[in-house]
Amino acid sequence: MGKIKRSQKFALVMSSLCLLTGIVGVSEANAATPEEFNRKMSLGVNLGNCLEAPNEGEWGLKIEPEYMKLIAAAGFKHVRIPIRWSSHAMKDAPYTVEPKFFARVDEVLKEALENKLLVVLNMHHYEEFEAAPDAHQARFKAIWHQIAEHYSKVSDDVAFEIYNEPCKQISDEGWNKLYPEVLQDIRRTNANRQVIVGPVNWNNLHKLESLRLPDNDRHIIVTVHYYEPFKFTHQGAEWIGAESTKWLGNTWKGADAEKANVDADFDIASAWGRAHNRPIYVGEFGAYSKADMDSRSRWTHYVRDAALKRGFSAAYWEFGSGFGVYDPQAKTWRAPLLNALTGR
Ligand code: BGC
Repeated sequence: MGKIKRSQKFALVMSSLCLLTGIVGVSEANAATPEEFNRKMSLGVNLGNCLEAPNEGEWGLKIEPEYMKLIAAAGFKHVRIPIRWSSHAMKDAPYTVEPKFFARVDEVLKEALENKLLVVLNMHHYEEFEAAPDAHQARFKAIWHQIAEHYSKVSDDVAFEIYNEPCKQISDEGWNKLYPEVLQDIRRTNANRQVIVGPVNWNNLHKLESLRLPDNDRHIIVTVHYYEPFKFTHQGAEWIGAESTKWLGNTWKGADAEKANVDADFDIASAWGRAHNRPIYVGEFGAYSKADMDSRSRWTHYVRDAALKRGFSAAYWEFGSGFGVYDPQAKTWRAPLLNALTGR
């Protein structure tokens, strides 16, 4: 290396130290703004019912390598990957995540990134936490600490989403206190990674007003989920209970009044985003397969357009199960849904 001055040597040692400890990551100058990232995310699809099942495959679907190729070739720009970390971590301190499970998630991320898809990696269905947030706080934080450390060097094309649909016993105050603590810990190893966070009540856009955001953190994208009218999108949905069978036969015709409802809702999210200077991600929207296909495709097309024209990114719920835009048995896309999503 020849002769180098002491000051240079010091700088060199410091920078390799920082790289090793992951303090630096991407320099602030090179990091995408959350607005740029959100524009790149554009439209995506949720790989639902796979890694957020208690064990992958138990809900009838596994993420196959060809799925990422298909998704990218169809024109989607990102995948959201719901993950039930809580089934794969020790129940007691130090709450270690199974290395085998990390290896599986690594594999899925690699497949997505190789296909130039951006990735939203979340935490999903930690049901014990939803039922008793205080009792599970330490475990929630410890699992995130491990995820953040494990993925501190992964491509910037991966965003972290702290929790899918905070609900049940997770209150406004509880969530506004807990998630910033998790975020602060994530920042120790992922200074400029895009982090996604949404309001309580299942990421309901009417709850945006109660979401508090740290002023000093710019790499945040705010998420909401959209399933309105619920009695249309969730007709016959078994997990909602017997009541949902009464909604069978509800249609969505695309009448002016129906469209106006979607617009009014999205205008609320848009106004909130502008007022708080944060990009918006509709991380889930979709209509269950018990609704008629014409209504589903009309609704999907309209909601997709309504999101994109306001500058939101959005992800269809979901790829290959009950809402599936893809039929994994027949190995074909469901054309009316795919066309609706790709704007054809
Ligand atoms: C839940 C899924 C459910 C979907 C639509 C998701 O956030 O995780 O279990 O199918 O919303 O209700």
